[in-house]
Amino acid sequence: MEMLLKSIFDEIKPMLGQGKVADYIPALATVNPYQFGIAVCDIHGNITHIGDANVPFSIQSISKVFNLVLAINHYGESMWDRVGCEPSGLPFNSLVQLEYEQGIPRNPFINAGALVVSDMNESRFASPHIGMRDFVKRLSCNDEIIANRDVSDSEFEFRARNAAMAYLMKAYNNFENEVDDVLHSYFSNCAIEMSCVDLARATNFLANRGYSVCANEQVLTPSQNRQVNALLATSGMYDEAGSFAFKVGLPGKSGVGGGIIAVVPGRFSICVFSPALNTVGNSQLGVAALTSLSKRISWSVY
Ligand code: DON
Repeated sequence: MEMLLKSIFDEIKPMLGQGKVADYIPALATVNPYQFGIAVCDIHGNITHIGDANVPFSIQSISKVFNLVLAINHYGESMWDRVGCEPSGLPFNSLVQLEYEQGIPRNPFINAGALVVSDMNESRFASPHIGMRDFVKRLSCNDEIIANRDVSDSEFEFRARNAAMAYLMKAYNNFENEVDDVLHSYFSNCAIEMSCVDLARATNFLANRGYSVCANEQVLTPSQNRQVNALLATSGMYDEAGSFAFKVGLPGKSGVGGGIIAVVPGRFSICVFSPALNTVGNSQLGVAALTSLSKRISWSVY
């Protein structure tokens, strides 16, 4: 595995500098784009990593996976009345479908869907963002994980688009709590900072029928776990989900901080990180690295 990661690193290095760091969140615009790391965790918890795999970065939309898992644990099947399980085929922050589909977001990984899921968690937890941070600390065996306040404040200041989605859903009776309260929780979750090693550990349950070796905890039932992986495969990479399935063939989730997690069911969880993004908001080198990884060892689930 070490040799494999090393040859991918060598292949990707000349591409450093391609893509563009997310600047619609001003606090992320200053991140050094010349970073690249990969960590792979097997289902026994053994980690192999290379490059900047221990550098903490803003997990952004990868938090939507943990957010969803917490809601599934509380609401079970009933949560699917309020959020769908179809790919949207549109950018992650698009508003248009919401009106056509009467306030029910297509899936829990677009922003509108994650906001409804955050609203569910807001109704269930006294401090949803603390519940979330404790959860990722347990799953990654790392007690030092924090949320970056500058990033969450910056997102709150420029919240207009996410706020518009939440208010539209409120108008359709699909939003229970105060919009700004939910936005604070949602942005704090997105602003959590974790490294590739942390994220490969924290998402390992997805490769292991819902069981986290690190936390020694059954996080999801095997059938719920299959459903989450199916959603990741169809919606985790937004309007690049089709070509990601075509090129990589693994359930995956990206964030505008430059991280992508991917799952090889029954075998490995993977996290790649490189902050410069492609035009749909997924890490440019992250997608390239996962494409190369999958090509070299045929890990595709298809
Ligand atoms: O709400 C937002 O726009 C960000 N906090 C998260 C977006 C994101 O990471 C999309 N992923 N590629």
